[in-house]
Amino acid sequence: MSSHGDPVPMTARKGTALKGVADVPGDKSISHRSLILGAMAVGETVITGLLEGQDVLDTAKAMRAFGADVTRDAEGVWHVHGVGVGGFAEPEDVIDCGNSGTGVRLIMGTMATSPIVATFTGDASLRGRPMARVTDPLALFGTTSVGRKGGRLPMTITGAANPVPVRYKTPVPSAQVKSAVLLAGLNAPGQTVVIEAEATRDHTERMLAGFGAEITTEITPEGRVITLTGQPELKPQTIVVPRDPSSAAFPVCAALIVPGSDVLVPNIGLNPTRAGLFETLREMGADLTYENLREEGGEPVADLRARFSPDMTGIEVPPERAASMIDEYPILSVVAANAKGQTVMRGVKELRVKESDRIEAMAVGLRAAGVTVEDGPDWWIVHGRGAGGVPGGVTVATHLDHRIAMSFLCAGMASAQPITVDDAGPIATSFPVFEPLMRGLGARLDRTNRA
Ligand code: S3P
Repeated sequence: MSSHGDPVPMTARKGTALKGVADVPGDKSISHRSLILGAMAVGETVITGLLEGQDVLDTAKAMRAFGADVTRDAEGVWHVHGVGVGGFAEPEDVIDCGNSGTGVRLIMGTMATSPIVATFTGDASLRGRPMARVTDPLALFGTTSVGRKGGRLPMTITGAANPVPVRYKTPVPSAQVKSAVLLAGLNAPGQTVVIEAEATRDHTERMLAGFGAEITTEITPEGRVITLTGQPELKPQTIVVPRDPSSAAFPVCAALIVPGSDVLVPNIGLNPTRAGLFETLREMGADLTYENLREEGGEPVADLRARFSPDMTGIEVPPERAASMIDEYPILSVVAANAKGQTVMRGVKELRVKESDRIEAMAVGLRAAGVTVEDGPDWWIVHGRGAGGVPGGVTVATHLDHRIAMSFLCAGMASAQPITVDDAGPIATSFPVFEPLMRGLGARLDRTNRA
């Protein structure tokens, strides 16, 4: 069920220990980029391990609408016949990116320097999210856009017929903004430069280099200076999508808080721009080990082993780590509720403009479940109740946000009374096998709505 359908209430209850191997799906960020860059290459890109979540399926559909030939051969195995940089055709209909901020923002960037017009929309969550952070820099290329008040979707973008390269310092730490500018820069002559004060996930840079673009990153006092030479011919690639550390976070954290658990989550990429949660958990005293640590495709990869950790203690999460774990704060707050002492999270304003206002959604739900949470514009503090100390016994609102739904279901696996989420449907956007995978480890999840 997708977030477009009827709500799917789901309840998690305390049960036995979680045990076994959790094979989590492919990385969402890399899956979107594989399809988009495949569509910009000349020839056939083959992707294996693609995440077949709704967000990525919406991007695949969009790439077809812009003229690429995108086919699915088998589970996770996809072929993309690209149209080349600057080769996008004008879509005949509105592009619906569903729940996906990454999809819409990266695709807007990709089409922004072609002389075509496209109208974008999405679900209620996506229509509430800010797009000016992308359309402002795209205007510097010569792109125009018309949207709803506050730069909201639906929005129509007219691509620049004669784009000029830009130099842009991102005002917020955002890989989506950085990527939109770089993807637009692909079809601008000369060098497009993006400067980011804080390092955000670098998949776009790595993958552009892999597809044969000339791209460099320099670390300067101003931050990371990324320079892309426009109008390359991108060469099709064979891509093996690594598994998603942001999805791995759920079985890992559930194992840490459910008594007696011992779960192995194999083949997880530990790219430093993504691995902040695991570092934080280890600092809190989690029994989380990296087994079989190795390099694959130039990136560190390990099998994560998480065991029940009754003695975790809250920490102050370093704000400079925020970008490397930005999607993991909701599940971290659940672990924090099951740790001793306070977990302080600062410098996290961006959490307020994700699929939901994630500070608000977690704070409201955790408070209802009996946990003390303080919050301000860009910070929040969870007062831990120790292992198994969350009372629970509530139904929480997930606001069309997959990570809020999964976080509260994991919370309910350890709380005294069950926790129900009002809608588990959005989980399909990023982790379609969450329910069977967690059940396979021993979790008690069911689709009745009584807490
Ligand atoms: C993503 C970047 C992050 C993250 C999102 C995926 C990406 O968003 O929250 O889930 O793939 O580039 P921001 O760029 O808004 O920080």
